[in-house]
Amino acid sequence: MTMSKPNPKERTLVLLKPDAVQRGIVGEIIDRFEQKGIKLVGMKFMKLSDAILDRHYAEHKGKPFLPKLKTFMRKLPVVALALEGLEVARVVRAMCGPTDGKNAPAGTIRGDYSMSRSTTVVHSSSDAKAAKRELAIFFKSAEIVSWERPDADYFYAADELN
Ligand code: CDP
Ligand code: MG
Repeated sequence: MTMSKPNPKERTLVLLKPDAVQRGIVGEIIDRFEQKGIKLVGMKFMKLSDAILDRHYAEHKGKPFLPKLKTFMRKLPVVALALEGLEVARVVRAMCGPTDGKNAPAGTIRGDYSMSRSTTVVHSSSDAKAAKRELAIFFKSAEIVSWERPDADYFYAADELN
């Protein structure tokens, strides 16, 4: 297989966690992604079951923080977002900032809204491969809607898209 160019249709999963819902900052966070030029291709408001959390957090199985994390994630609904764009998994991770809000640079979501390593406001997939697995947990394929932003030309140069 030849090395493929970055995919402008790459997708990633973001969860706006119960602390984002409780604090009423869901709109502000979605705004950041829209203003960056990232395309929203799926959105759901949902309470998470134990089963869905076990699937989602499979990589953290056995870690000491997992039981408390699951309790926190079940406290209130979350907003699940499917986001699309060039290198979107990496870009969204950078916008979220490192896990512990105390270490997160100002200007990142966690840097601006979190003082904790547990109530971290957002989840984002660690890379495009993880995103594929995680998106399938939260969205059926028909619930992700492809569309073109009419202002795409202003967010990307033509040679970045082809
Ligand atoms: O969310 P991120 O990918 O940055 O971090 P993670 O290491 O994959 O951990 C997932 C989530 O577990 C974090 O966002 C925290 O909510 C929680 N966590 C925690 O409560 N205590 C820790 N020591 C580490 C993570
Ligand atoms: Mg993680």
